[in-house]
Formats: sequence, structure tokens, C-alpha cells
Amino acid sequence: MATLWHGRFEGSPAEELMAFTVSLPYDQRLAPDDIEGSRAHVRGLVRGGILDDEEAAAVQDALDQVEEELRAGTFRFAPSDEDIHTAVERRVTEIAGDAGGKIHTGRSRNDQVATDLRLYCKRAILVVARRILQLQQVLVQRGAESDDAYLPGYTHLQRAQPVLLSHHLHAHAWAFARDVDRLMDTQRRLDVSPLGAGALAGSSLPLDPHGTAVDLGFADVFTNSMDAVSDRDFVAELLFDLALLGVHLSRLAEEIILWSTAEFGFLKLADAYSTGSSMLPQKKNPDIAELTRGKSGRLIGNLTGLLATLKGLPLAYNRDLQEDKEPLFDSLDQINLALSAMTGLLASSTFVFDTMAAAADAPTSAATDLAEFLVAKGVPFREAHGIVGALVRESIETGASVADLVEHHRDLGIPALHLLETGVAVTRRTTPGGAGPLPAGPQLAQLAAKLESDWARVGAGDD
Ligand code: ARG
Repeated sequence: MATLWHGRFEGSPAEELMAFTVSLPYDQRLAPDDIEGSRAHVRGLVRGGILDDEEAAAVQDALDQVEEELRAGTFRFAPSDEDIHTAVERRVTEIAGDAGGKIHTGRSRNDQVATDLRLYCKRAILVVARRILQLQQVLVQRGAESDDAYLPGYTHLQRAQPVLLSHHLHAHAWAFARDVDRLMDTQRRLDVSPLGAGALAGSSLPLDPHGTAVDLGFADVFTNSMDAVSDRDFVAELLFDLALLGVHLSRLAEEIILWSTAEFGFLKLADAYSTGSSMLPQKKNPDIAELTRGKSGRLIGNLTGLLATLKGLPLAYNRDLQEDKEPLFDSLDQINLALSAMTGLLASSTFVFDTMAAAADAPTSAATDLAEFLVAKGVPFREAHGIVGALVRESIETGASVADLVEHHRDLGIPALHLLETGVAVTRRTTPGGAGPLPAGPQLAQLAAKLESDWARVGAGDD
């Protein structure tokens, strides 16, 4: 079997070796970036006088043909194709003959694969960011449609204080806004070309790493060849970004699961976004939300797995680094699926405003407002807290209604009764960033502006 490296060897590699070392089954998706990188490398070789114009034209034509064959699905992989880089070079050489044999001059698969992966990540990040923005838009839109609908806000999953539904949905949207920021930060940091680092030490040939970096649209070029070929920080960072995004999606998923139970009854899932049970005819299950919650574990695993791979590696390239791709591609694929599914789920489900409001209107939800009523009259908060706490306990123990106890309380009385009226408590969250209608306007304006500026930096795309 004629591998790219067979010159040094007398015999062919064992079948088991090839079966174990190939990355072709999963690195094929780097083909467009590999071809783009090769085109820029060839132009660099021309600038360095290593390839003449005729040879370069033959190689570029061959690269065009390889691109077309891959696109059309007519590209025939050979058993010796270890990875996409080998496959492209082999085919280019078949097509372009001797000129093709020069394409790898001054280049190693070590700087090549790092270049391809960075190009790939630059695009992949934008795809994820756009899907996050679409989900955020649905969160904002569902909030806007809900007007002043409110529900209990929870701490410890115990009813705490009423909050506007839009405020609750915006809380998720802000977490996703940070995910977009993080992805764009990662993109900025990984925007460095490693091409020209060679296997690890650069080259004796007149290469032009700066020129190829500019040619490929990179913002910067490596300064240390050994760092350039061994650095997978960008993969780890991106896996972290995706893992945390997965955690954010999982929190949202968990609420959707809870809210769509009979016990909560806050949300009805659309048929198209729910599943049935093979045995229980009455069931309508939130499988999308559950899988989103489940997949977040896998995303965390992909991150920790790669970190473990990286931790013991001496400089510079080691084959262990090939293990960067499967977790990366898996996390990207899973997060894209989860984002789309969760966006569709949220866009199509129905909020049950009455049930939410009824849960939030429990008189005890106004406990803090009663205490703050006393504070406004000059009672120290700790004392006010004790007074209202005792009143709630009395209501629970004696079965007397909170309203009755408030009405007949020495410090509260009739003036405090209106705090117990339905829908009043939520209106009293008036401070900046608070959960009531008053601060809702400025928050919405800020969120809308953030979404607009994020769309501008991420771009519309056609994915
Ligand atoms: N498929 C390899 C990878 O993903 C390409 C680099 C191989 N380099 C080498 N020296 N064997 O890392």
C-alpha cells in the first residue's frame, strides 16, 4: 500500500495499523478548508519561486477538480488515504502529475491540519451563533406576546415572588447573549494562521507564512512554529463554550419539562414537538427538552475528554492530537440540533397564563411586599420579616386566611390589603433590572439592541 510516507519503510503498514490510525471517516468535513489552505499554500510557493506559474496552474486546476469530485460524490477514496489531507494530495498528484508532487513542499500535515481546523472553526462558530440568535429572538417574541403575564419566580424551586413571564424568558436570553460573546471571543483568539510552521520548526525554503495568513483571511500569523502545530487551546475553548451553552439550554429544557407537567400546567407543547408513549396512550412527552438536557452531559464529556488528551503531551505534534476532531464535530453537531429543536419547541408551545397567574397569586407570594409595607412605615426590616413570618405561620396553623390576618393586624390592617390583590405583587418590582412591568421596557430595549448588534457581527449566513 502506497502511503504518503512509505519511502522510509520496507513493507506495507499492517491492516490493524491503518484501521486504528485513520481519521478519514470523520475528517472529510475538513475538505473545503483543506482545499482552500492548499490553494493559498501553492500561491505562497509561487511567490517564493518554488513553483512556476505553469506548475501552479496545474495544481490549482487539480484542486478545482478534487473539489468538484468531492462535491459531486464521485471522489474515490483509496485504502491508503489515512486522512482528508492525504486523500486530497494523492488525487491532486494523480491529476497534475509531477507538479502535484510539489504541493506538499515546505508543508507538513501538522501545520496543515491545524490550519484546516482553525478555518473550519471560524465558520462553525458563526453557524452556532446564528442559531443562538434565532432562539433568543423566539424568547423575546414569546415574552412580547405575553404582555404582562406573570408566574411565580422560584428559589429552591419554592415559590418566591411573582415575576413577569417576559422577565423570566429574558433571563435565559441574557445567558445566551453571553454564549454568543464567548463564541466570538474564541473566534477572535483562534484567528491565527499556523501555515508555514511545517512539521514543527519551519523550513529552509523561502515560505511566506504572513502572506498565506493574509491570503486565507486570518487576522494574524503564528510567531512560534512549535506552538503553532501543538496548540489546541482553540478546540478546548470552543468545547467549553459549547458545553456551557449546553448547560444553559439544559436549564431551559428542565423548566420546559417541569412547566409541561400536570403538576405545574404552565405550558402546553405542540403535537409536532412532542412524542407519545409506546404503552401509555394518554402520554405526551417532552422528549426534545429531555434530550437537550441529556446531551449537555455529553458536551461536558467532550470537553473533559479533550483536556485529558492534551494534558500529558510533550511538544510539539503528537498523534494524540488527532483525537481533537471527533469531540469537536460531535459537540458542534449536537448543539446545532438542540438549538434548532428547542427554538421550534418554544415557538410552537402555548403558555397557560391563567394557571401561571393563579400559582403566583397565592397570598403568601406577597409576603415580601407586606414586610416592605412595614419598612415604609419605619419598621426595621428584620422585625417586619418576623411579623409577616409569624402571620404566615398562624395562617398555616389555624387555617385563617392571610387576608383576614392582615386586615386585623395592628401594623398592617386595611391599607395593606391591596397588596394581596391578584396581579399587584408583580407590579411592585420596580427597581432597575427587576421583574415588574416598570423596568421591563428598558430591559427589552437593551436586549433588542444586543440582538441587533450581535446579528450585525455574526452576519445572516446561508446555513
Ligand atoms: N490526521 C492527522 C490529525 O488529525 C493529521 C496529522 C498527521 N500528522 C502526522 N505527523 N502523522 O492530526
